[in-house]
Amino acid sequence: MTDGTLRATDAVCPHRGGPIADGQFDLGHIVCPLHQYTFRFSDGGCTAEGIGSLGVYRIEDRAGEIVVWL
Ligand code: FES
Repeated sequence: MTDGTLRATDAVCPHRGGPIADGQFDLGHIVCPLHQYTFRFSDGGCTAEGIGSLGVYRIEDRAGEIVVWL
């Protein structure tokens, strides 16, 4: 993210189950490759209304050991 923290997301899009893990992303957003809806890493919300939210999880790198906060 833009603040230097890391995030993990669900692999499946909340819209229609698209492979969002294969989507393109920048520091703030990820775009699902199936219908191109965009989701924020900050809260998982979609930039379009009525689509639902993507699960987003905080990650810590503890000296090379990756911890995902579920
Ligand atoms: S399945 Fe991801 S945008 Fe439709």
